[in-house]
Order: sequence, then structure tokens, then C-alpha cells
Amino acid sequence: MAARLTVNSVLKSGTMQMPVIGLGTLQVMVDYPDGPTSPTKSSKVEAVVAKARASGLPPPKYNLTSLSQEKGLPRKETILRGLEIGYRHLDSAYAYENEEAIGQAIREWMDIGGLKREDFFITTKLPNIAMRQELVDEYLQRSLKNLQLDYVDLYLIQNPVGYKPGDVLYPRDKDGSIELDFQTDHVKIWQAMEKQVDKGCAKHIGLSNFSLRQVDRLMEKASIPPANIQAECHLYFQQQELRQWAKDNSVVFTAYAALGSPAMMNFFREARKNSEIRMKSPLDDPLVDRLSRVHKKTRAQILLRHLLQLGVVVIPKSSTTEHMVENINVFDFELSSQEMAELNALDQGEHGRKFSLVGFFKGYEKHPENPYPLDD
Ligand SMILES: NC(=O)c1ccc[n+]([C@@H]2O[C@H](COP(=O)([O-])OP(=O)(O)OC[C@H]3O[C@@H](n4cnc5c(N)ncnc54)[C@H](OP(=O)(O)O)[C@@H]3O)[C@@H](O)[C@H]2O)c1
Repeated sequence: MAARLTVNSVLKSGTMQMPVIGLGTLQVMVDYPDGPTSPTKSSKVEAVVAKARASGLPPPKYNLTSLSQEKGLPRKETILRGLEIGYRHLDSAYAYENEEAIGQAIREWMDIGGLKREDFFITTKLPNIAMRQELVDEYLQRSLKNLQLDYVDLYLIQNPVGYKPGDVLYPRDKDGSIELDFQTDHVKIWQAMEKQVDKGCAKHIGLSNFSLRQVDRLMEKASIPPANIQAECHLYFQQQELRQWAKDNSVVFTAYAALGSPAMMNFFREARKNSEIRMKSPLDDPLVDRLSRVHKKTRAQILLRHLLQLGVVVIPKSSTTEHMVENINVFDFELSSQEMAELNALDQGEHGRKFSLVGFFKGYEKHPENPYPLDD
């Protein structure tokens, strides 16, 4: 597996072929009024784009030099830049409210950049406010309209818990509690998801943030098994059981927060009683630092390579050109089995989980389909 990994590698489930690296787009939601993170290094970007062109990608339409002088990119430009660098797999969700920008960027590349629909792998997700059998079609149609597409490659149920249907993505009552929809029935929702495959609106369907018990239960009733499960997965929360389940059932596993989602630290801090390990960033780990010096790679590249060699898909989010380049540039080195074992040993299991909606949304845990532990 490790030796054969390339930028064009895919993981397969049934007929689905999912590129092993995608661009995460949560938080590519707002423009950056203050300019943001680090300045970009245009020479590095030029080198990667030259490599991409050499491997048969069409020439970029955008002027790299002028764009790369910006410190951070607004949302449509982030996606355009990602496509220019070579990303073809984009991870979105109705609830990220960025599908329109993604749709515009894809359209520009299809109209002018010479790419075809089948060159892209587009994932989007059913929101919590649409967790009813009769709402699946409506919400997928909304996403397709936003994305200017006839179909998505992968449609996921974003989260197993339903919120009150309506126009507000996170409806709250007078006490500030999240308004839950207690009618959530995964089997019925899945049947509506299966219909979307039959209609050709979703090539493949899958689940996100479901617990092992929930995916197992659904698998028993599914006519079309999930092609993908997406879940938090990084150095300190390696999801051994869920990954093993995915492997045993030929389901592709996608790791979100592969870098530990550093920009979300305040969210984690406010949401929960956080232990030291939960507030620790995998990017700051001493072993990761040592390996980055051994391999002359960045810490982010070590973290991504570790997950790729574990056999999962990664979808790091970035709005910074230099990071986008770094994150796709992980195919020219390999971690040894000894190094993999050392990294694997840093798994903290459930203690390492950062994302939990329990605590963040008051009352979330009252839903019978809450997938998160109630330990804090
Ligand atoms: N299904 C779900 O419920 C769910 C939940 C969370 C996330 N997701 C998906 O997974 C994607 C990734 O998760 P995430 O965004 O939470 O976390 P992540 O990918 O672990 O971290 C993203 C953060 O890391 C920074 N970063 C990116 N590349 C870097 C590099 N090479 N060096 C240093 N910092 C770097 C980014 O900043 P810059 O922008 O400045 O690079 C951003 O702040 C999301 O965008 C979304 O598509 C899904």
C-alpha cells in the first residue's frame, strides 16, 4: 500500500474510486478581511503546478504570481487555487454554506480550464435539519443547484442526530437548547438516500459521525451498503475499531481533522471540559517534529502520510496556498514500519477525540441517536 501511493491513488468500495487526498472546505466559509495566516512561497507553488502539468493536468487559467502574493484567499479563490494545485476531490456539506462558491469554481474549470465533470470527485452532506425520509430528495436537489451539478460523487448523512426541520441550520429554543427532531429514523432516511443512487443524483452514499453500533445496525438493513464513512481521525484519535470495521466491510474510511483541526481549538475549549490531550495539537507532537526533520518534510506532511499509510482518505482543509501545496505533496517519501509503529502508539483512543457536539449544542445528548460518549 505505502509504496504504491501516488497523487492519483484511489481507494475503492464497490464501483466507487475515491482519490486519497481531498480538499476539506469547512471554514472555507467566510472571506478573510484581515488577510490571515502565512505568506505564500510562489516558487514552491510554481514547482507543484509545473509537476501537475507534466502529469497531464490542463494549464492553469489563473495568474499564479499575482494570486500567490495574497496572504489568504477568499472562498471561491481558495477552491480555484486548490484545483490549480491539483486537488480534484472536494469535501463540502450543505451546512458549510460554501457549495455555491465550489460550484462556481468547478464550473469555471469545466468551461475554461478544460476539465470534465468526471475529473472531479465531489462530496456533500445531508444536514441535521433534513433528517427525514421526505426531506432527503429536497436537500440533495438544493445542494446540486448550489453546486451547479447533475450529480454528486458521494452524498453523506452528516450526523446521526436530527434537528428541527426548517430554514435555520442550528435551531435553538428560548433556553438556548438545540431543537431536536425526535423522529429520526436512520433506516427510512437511508432508503431515501438509496433512491438518490437509483435516480443518478448521487453516485455513492455514506455516513459521517455515526458510531460503530449505528453503522453496524444500518448495514443489516441496507440494500445499498455505505461506500464511505467519514469520521474524526488523527494521531491522538486513530479510530482503530471503526477503521477495522470499514476494512472488514470494504467501506472506504475518510479521516477528517487529520491535522487535529488547529483552528477549532477555541471551539473545543468552550464546548467541553477538556483534558490536556484533547487540547494538544498533533502538529506540536515531539515525535512528529523529529520525523519531520528525519524526512525533511513538514509536521503536517508527516501526519497526513501516517494516515495515508494506515489506508484511509484524508481531506485536510486549507485556505493558504502554501499549506495546500504542502498537503498534496506527500507522495515522495515513506514512513518505515518502525516509524509507523511509533506513531500508532500515540493513539489515545476515545480520550483523544476533539469533536463532540455534546456540550457544544446544549441538550444535544438528549437525542436517542447521540453518537458521542457522555463522559464529560
Ligand atoms: N463530517 C464532519 O462532521 C466533519 C467535521 C469536521 C471536518 N470535516 C471535513 O474535514 C475537513 C478537515 O477538517 P478540519 O478543517 O476541521 O481540520 P484539519 O484539516 O485537521 O485542519 C485545518 C486547519 O489546519 C490548518 N492547516 C492546513 N494545512 C496546514 C499545514 N500544512 N500546516 C499547518 N497548518 C495547516 C488550516 O489553516 P489554513 O487554512 O491557514 O491552512 C486549518 O486551520 C473539513 O474542512 C471538512 O471538509 C467534516
